[in-house]
Amino acid sequence: MTTSKNSLSKKWWKEQIIYQIYPRSFFDSDGDGIGDLNGIIEKLDYIKSLGVTAVWVNPFYASPNDDNGYDISDYRKIMDEFGDMNDFDEMIKGFHQRGIKFIMDLVVNHSSDEHEWFKQSRSSRYNLYRDYYHWWPAEKGKPNHRFSYFDEKGDAWKYDQQTDSYYLHYFSAKQPDLNWENPELRREIYDIMHFWAKKGVDGFRLDAFQFISKDTTFPAFPEGYQDDVVDVIKHHGMGPTLHNHIREMNQEVLSKYEVFAVSEGAGSSFEDAHSLVDEDRNELHMVYHFEGVEIGNGLDDPHTLADFKEVHSKWEEAFKDKGWISIFLANHDVPRMVSRFGNDSDEFRAVSSKMLNTFILTMRGTPYCYFGDELGMKNIYFEDINEYQDIAAINGYKKALSEGKDMQKFMQNLRFYSRDNSRTPMQWDNTENAGFTSGSPWISVNSDYKEVNVASQENRADSVLNHFRTLTKLRTENDILVYGVYQQVEPDHPHIYAYTRSLDNQTWLVILSFVETDANLKLPNNMQTFEIQANNYSQLSIDDGWLKLKPYQAVVLSQKE
Ligand code: GLC
Repeated sequence: MTTSKNSLSKKWWKEQIIYQIYPRSFFDSDGDGIGDLNGIIEKLDYIKSLGVTAVWVNPFYASPNDDNGYDISDYRKIMDEFGDMNDFDEMIKGFHQRGIKFIMDLVVNHSSDEHEWFKQSRSSRYNLYRDYYHWWPAEKGKPNHRFSYFDEKGDAWKYDQQTDSYYLHYFSAKQPDLNWENPELRREIYDIMHFWAKKGVDGFRLDAFQFISKDTTFPAFPEGYQDDVVDVIKHHGMGPTLHNHIREMNQEVLSKYEVFAVSEGAGSSFEDAHSLVDEDRNELHMVYHFEGVEIGNGLDDPHTLADFKEVHSKWEEAFKDKGWISIFLANHDVPRMVSRFGNDSDEFRAVSSKMLNTFILTMRGTPYCYFGDELGMKNIYFEDINEYQDIAAINGYKKALSEGKDMQKFMQNLRFYSRDNSRTPMQWDNTENAGFTSGSPWISVNSDYKEVNVASQENRADSVLNHFRTLTKLRTENDILVYGVYQQVEPDHPHIYAYTRSLDNQTWLVILSFVETDANLKLPNNMQTFEIQANNYSQLSIDDGWLKLKPYQAVVLSQKE
């Protein structure tokens, strides 16, 4: 019997199960084809019924929507299409009445170019707001290359005639980067955080946060630099002042409320990640890293189960004694979980979705469950560039075209990896537009909605939805799934990912099959007698100490004394 006492301290935010809502696509209450806050309010009981304990709602601040709300023009106002501040107040009250915490998306690496600060800033070199952003006077020549994710040329500097200067935008040209080296700007941001914390939000998800501090001399990059995942993070973010700023934010805001903060991005090493969240540093509470959703990032580079196990195990190992990470397999920036890591064919979509939900809800780290994944929603796989809504897709297409890339290959990758795949409307029932809107939806509804929807799964005991509920309940009722020590079992098994979670005198075993054929696993000696806590099939076959798993079978077993 494994006896292990976990040294990690207990904290309320470690115990949350977070449900991520993309508000534009969740539920449209007024028929304009766009989801809204009242839509969320109408679905509060559904959200409660999932057994999640917190929600993170993507940005709903005033925005011209160049990047669907990640370009904010007023941090204290609600986007017109989504409602108003009364709706917000009612929504957060509704969550709190149901014991659900509310996490706000805070997008302060950049604002919209339509924010008043930027309008002022660009108006004159002598404007009081000039230093709220990063400007490069043209008489100094063209600034050194900086990469932009959404720019048609991948260039983060945009020339602005009005003051004969370039401004910096790591994302789209309508998302100028804020200058965190300016104390007045930082003060404004803390004021914004106080505003929302006083309204009762329980946490902040800090968007693109590793980029807030950069070397503002903007030196040339070393030879060999490439605009790839590693180099971009290393050379564009995690700058020299990052920790001073975070400590200040912690002192000025976070420490004054019962709130937690999670950073999007964890730097480019475990040391970076630890430096953001280790408790003795009094900075942030949790990070999420991208490695888990970057494996096999491209159709030419398919991932294997070995890659999947390796990434999740190495992060687990690195954080076993200190710090805390998030666990997720999808969000609004990546493809649907089942299409990416499971099997979205008609035959295996449901069972492999249940298996992946079992993974998310039995790992150590705070689980983030993306809306629709509790139903097994899959990629929409747009074929035509005109169907895409996302600026990353549209400008990425223009960039590839102008660089003479193989467009057929580009489109094949986009079809699978585009962010629009995970932004299609929530599938509520089998009526027109999946019951999402009575109008015309802002983005196409996935054509599988007649089979895959809440109404059809609600009363079926074996649905993906009800399996999800079983697992949230299990996690909420069993600390072992939150704090228990993780250890892989048969790490080299080519088809199965198995691990134990152990706490005090208890051990649980999680077994996940990742293949569409049967697979076998020898039961470890200490697990010969057990109880089944969760199973995505009605049976579990055992033969002479061997588990005989069905395709994508996922079971959670607790050791019997
Ligand atoms: C984050 C968001 C993404 C957004 C970007 C710019 O990565 O998750 O959706 O486009 O930041 O704000």
